[in-house]
Amino acid sequence: MASHHHSLLSFAALATTFSIVLLCSCSLIEALNEGFIVDLIHRDSPKSPFYNPSETHSQRVAKALRRSINRVNSFKPTSSVYPNSLQTDIFSDIGGGEYLMKYFVGTPPVPILGVADTGSDLIWLQCKPCTECYNQTAPFFDPEKSTTYKRISCTSSQCESLDYIDTSCSKDRKSCQYSVNYGDKSFSKGDLAVDTLTLNSTSSRPVPLLKTIIGCGLNNSLTSGVTGSGIVGLGGGSKSLVSQLHSSIGGKFSYCLVPFIYSEDNTSSKLNFGSHAVVSGFGTVSTPLVLHKRPHTYYYLTLEAMSVGNKRLELSSSSASGGSKGNIIIDSGSTLTYFPAEFYSKFESAVAEEINFKRIDDPSHLLSLCYNSSDDIDVPNITAHFSGADVKLNPTNAFWPITDELVCLAFQAGQQSIFGSVAQSNMLVGYDHVEKTVSFKPMDCTKL
Ligand SMILES: *[C@@H]1O[C@H](CO)[C@@H](O)[C@H](O)[C@H]1NC(C)=O
Ligand SMILES: *[C@@H]1O[C@H](CO)[C@@H](O)[C@H](O)[C@H]1NC(C)=O
Ligand SMILES: *[C@@H]1O[C@H](CO)[C@@H](O)[C@H](O)[C@H]1NC(C)=O
Ligand SMILES: *[C@@H]1O[C@H](CO)[C@@H](O)[C@H](O)[C@H]1NC(C)=O
Ligand SMILES: *[C@@H]1O[C@H](CO)[C@@H](O)[C@H](O)[C@H]1NC(C)=O
Ligand SMILES: *[C@@H]1O[C@H](CO)[C@@H](O)[C@H](O)[C@H]1NC(C)=O
Repeated sequence: MASHHHSLLSFAALATTFSIVLLCSCSLIEALNEGFIVDLIHRDSPKSPFYNPSETHSQRVAKALRRSINRVNSFKPTSSVYPNSLQTDIFSDIGGGEYLMKYFVGTPPVPILGVADTGSDLIWLQCKPCTECYNQTAPFFDPEKSTTYKRISCTSSQCESLDYIDTSCSKDRKSCQYSVNYGDKSFSKGDLAVDTLTLNSTSSRPVPLLKTIIGCGLNNSLTSGVTGSGIVGLGGGSKSLVSQLHSSIGGKFSYCLVPFIYSEDNTSSKLNFGSHAVVSGFGTVSTPLVLHKRPHTYYYLTLEAMSVGNKRLELSSSSASGGSKGNIIIDSGSTLTYFPAEFYSKFESAVAEEINFKRIDDPSHLLSLCYNSSDDIDVPNITAHFSGADVKLNPTNAFWPITDELVCLAFQAGQQSIFGSVAQSNMLVGYDHVEKTVSFKPMDCTKL
């Protein structure tokens, strides 16, 4: 075992893109070989502590829309690592998210409810002694009570500013401090540390992940109203949960998001790791994951065209950056799907042309193409043509019932193209860091 660890360590020292968690427990390796599954709880589900039973469906939808719009429209450079990079300005807006994930931290394990976010990397939680924390329902994590908690030293290679995580050395020069800023002005600062993180798998025994890099947040703010105990970063950067698990899950994770209306019942979405995350079989299509140089945080795909009925709209013809490689981010934390303004307007017109009912206004002016639900509109066939993968969207992927009377196209114009969660619901969406692909397969996620 010792020499095995040694080779992993020297590999870790060489690797700049992925950090590797050292696995020592045999039962862990067993659990990881067969993969594992955890529940993703929508923030508006009765299982979520943020569920407000007095809210109506329309109120929840309106709030989700506002959160999604904040996520895509708040622009602010967030990292000193890429101060002059164009990407910082464009892509720093994604943080927060709609799904919660329960995990345990420390020894003995303490339950934590974090926001699962494919748009950021760090796993952080609110810790004692907090200098400035927001209120949360559960007590703050006390690192002093965990026998496996260890702060990372300033000289460690793990204390490196990377992918939107800024690091510095504490005043006493003894420990590594981190700072992350999200586009909606949320932030977290504190000690960078390692501890055991345990995932309560619904498919096997609990899975302990030793020496996972976490942020112990001492000065935190979450502005988007999602007040979990912190964030679980599932992005592509080196400190995300997925990258830290990289070797043990074969670089694979997938999710199946239940449509919003079922989230309001108690149906949980699923997040799968390792062999459980393989997406294959009838109906599976795959497209290359475009790995931009840095930051590695976002998952970029190439969208070539959208078709509506028999009409195919090419992205390349609409703008210079249009059909180019890696022109869209796939994100589970954005509710809507966003296209560049010019392309969005062509797309919306094409959809409207196919629907022979009277458009009505969304009184909240959040969405543009809406119809009266009682008209029972015939939604045209809409397909997203990713490079090598035609993803057919069901009516529920394209139109969202935003009130009892209104259904609206769940797409909008935005400065950054994003393939959001409504478009991805009732599909198994698999990310494979080894094959460098994202795969889609139609699925009834309520039946998983
Ligand atoms: C947080 O909780 C404390 C004590 O319960 C309360 O006094 C304070 O007003 C709360 N702060 C916010 C922002 O809700
Ligand atoms: C862990 O998951 C199992 C199976 O889903 C569940 O019965 C159990 O209550 C969970 N434990 C905790 C502490 O959440
Ligand atoms: C917490 O962070 C904010 C934002 O950077 C900063 O203004 C504030 O001074 C910090 N508070 C403490 C106690 O360090
Ligand atoms: C959802 O689950 C909660 C607790 O787990 C329970 O109190 C509630 O009745 C359930 N709601 C529905 C609609 O099943
Ligand atoms: C939708 O149609 C129904 C039935 O025709 C009508 O009663 C209702 O006022 C309409 N709603 C809107 C928002 O137009
Ligand atoms: C949608 O496509 C299917 C074949 O994939 C076809 O049978 C159906 O008629 C199409 N529906 C519309 C409204 O064009």
